[in-house]
Amino acid sequence: MAASADTTTTTPSCTLAGRIALVTGGGSGIGRACCQVLAREGAQVVVTDINLQAAKHTLTLLPGEGEHVAVAMDVRERKSVEDAMKSAQDQCGAPPSLLVNCAGVVTIAPILETDSDSWHKNIDVNLTGTFLVTQTFATSLLENGKDSKGAVVNIASIDGKTGSTNLSGYTASKGGVISLTKTCAAELASKAIRVNCVLPGLIDTPMTASRMRELRENLMRLIPLGRTGRPEEVAEVVAFLLSERSSYMVGACVEVTGGYGM
Ligand SMILES: NC(=O)c1ccc[n+]([C@@H]2O[C@H](COP(=O)([O-])OP(=O)(O)OC[C@H]3O[C@@H](n4cnc5c(N)ncnc54)[C@H](O)[C@@H]3O)[C@@H](O)[C@H]2O)c1
Repeated sequence: MAASADTTTTTPSCTLAGRIALVTGGGSGIGRACCQVLAREGAQVVVTDINLQAAKHTLTLLPGEGEHVAVAMDVRERKSVEDAMKSAQDQCGAPPSLLVNCAGVVTIAPILETDSDSWHKNIDVNLTGTFLVTQTFATSLLENGKDSKGAVVNIASIDGKTGSTNLSGYTASKGGVISLTKTCAAELASKAIRVNCVLPGLIDTPMTASRMRELRENLMRLIPLGRTGRPEEVAEVVAFLLSERSSYMVGACVEVTGGYGM
């Protein structure tokens, strides 16, 4: 049998040094934590958000002053996405080769009371946004990247797997992100771009603050670990999936839920 490398004594490089990473929804919650962990791992981070002020605030929390950039991006609009990708490339000197699709919204209502606007809000940001940003990212990397090896992580949700009451538009959009991840993964693997997704459970962020107050007790009973998650606990998994440490992972859906929904 051929001798294999001793993987027990050597620590694989976890660094993202030299990589440019674009994060959508980087102005808050899980997206902000992703920016912080990716910067810690050495990536130059392009913090994007529909709320530019929030993205700029994230910049102040990152190590490496002056290295990272904040760019406004509305993931629902193709022109906004393309302009932001171009601005990122101009400011960083190369296109991003790492992408985190994290921008998201949620609306809460029973199916019988869900109007079309509310339905489309979830689909437009969470699903169409993931499609538009991934397509623009991959095009710019394949056309302009010197080293076109790339990785994408989509932030879906455990609700996209299990469904959830009062979240029809949200759960449908996140189920869509899961299947879009697998399709993109299958198409882009041969072009050296790996695509995977993360399914967070209940994470303490501004998005869940009001729902938490309402449902905390019931939900806690359903989470085997007995607590909510922290944004950085999702971000650590994202950093792993973007790094070469996950080099054989393609189209995977990694649950970060404290055991909820498994
Ligand atoms: N918090 C949780 O429990 C949880 C669980 C599962 C999945 N998620 C997902 O994680 C992602 C981040 O959620 P969060 O909890 O950090 O929420 P958050 O509300 O704290 O952050 C969401 C960010 O997305 C930005 N955003 C909204 N619409 C946008 C648009 N059109 N274009 C660009 N940016 C836009 C917001 O400005 C905000 O900065 C979302 O996709 C969410 O669905 C969250």
